[in-house]
Amino acid sequence: MPLFGKKEEPKVDYSRLPQHIAIIMDGNGRWAKSRGLPRTAGHAAGAETFRTIATYCREIGIKYLTVYAFSTENWKRPMEEVSAIMGLLKKYLLEAITDMEKEKVRFYFFGDLSPLPQELRQLCQETQTRSAGYTGCRVNICLNYGGRDEILRAARTFAGQCAAGEKKAEELTEADFSGYLWSAGIPDPDLVIRPSGEERISNFLLWQSAYAEFYFTDVNWPDFSKEELRRALAAYQSRSRRFGGV
Ligand code: IPE
Ligand code: IPE
Ligand code: MG
Repeated sequence: MPLFGKKEEPKVDYSRLPQHIAIIMDGNGRWAKSRGLPRTAGHAAGAETFRTIATYCREIGIKYLTVYAFSTENWKRPMEEVSAIMGLLKKYLLEAITDMEKEKVRFYFFGDLSPLPQELRQLCQETQTRSAGYTGCRVNICLNYGGRDEILRAARTFAGQCAAGEKKAEELTEADFSGYLWSAGIPDPDLVIRPSGEERISNFLLWQSAYAEFYFTDVNWPDFSKEELRRALAAYQSRSRRFGGV
């Protein structure tokens, strides 16, 4: 029996974990506001949560983790917030990378990095190159990422190859098309988690999440805990994935 006021510990079967978890790290601003803090304090707290959850995912044996850190639409925010996010990303990425280097975590970035501040862009590129040969779990960080942008770029590249006579349009398969995306070569997410109470996809992994299971929680990302992740895993394991079959 759960104690009054306490949620029951979720039951997770660690032999049946999803291969790939994707997370929309949302609710940093509301977390800060509810504490009377500036939004940037929420982003800093959210970065700490990323560190905790990424480490935990690695410990329990999740092979792929993809996190949404900054969308192609997030440039609409006030300049001060965008710059603060970029600064925090640099600081916390550096720390998280140092942490996870020991464990041979492979970092990969989804999104067009070219509009990012130069130092951040360089950090991302160096990290990706340095960890490319590692064999640990893979963490994909979506930065200036949009699902539509990703699909559009793939279409443009493919159209260019057709025009050059290298490819034939009628021969393109779903598997081929996946190979043009930033996620080329990695399995689709099994589980997409969105905290903060919003229940929308906000341009995240549109192609890849065709058959993902979704888990929504009201908890804001800075408050997202290992226990909350276990709750998401237990929910995932209670689902029947039919992929259109019976
Ligand atoms: C997510 O938290 C972080 C980014 C989008 C960069 P938000 O900043 O969207 O937080 P809320 O949704 O306003 O609470
Ligand atoms: C999605 O959150 C993007 C990230 C978490 C990086 P938003 O806060 O930008 O999404 P909307 O605006 O609520 O849809
Ligand atoms: Mg938000």
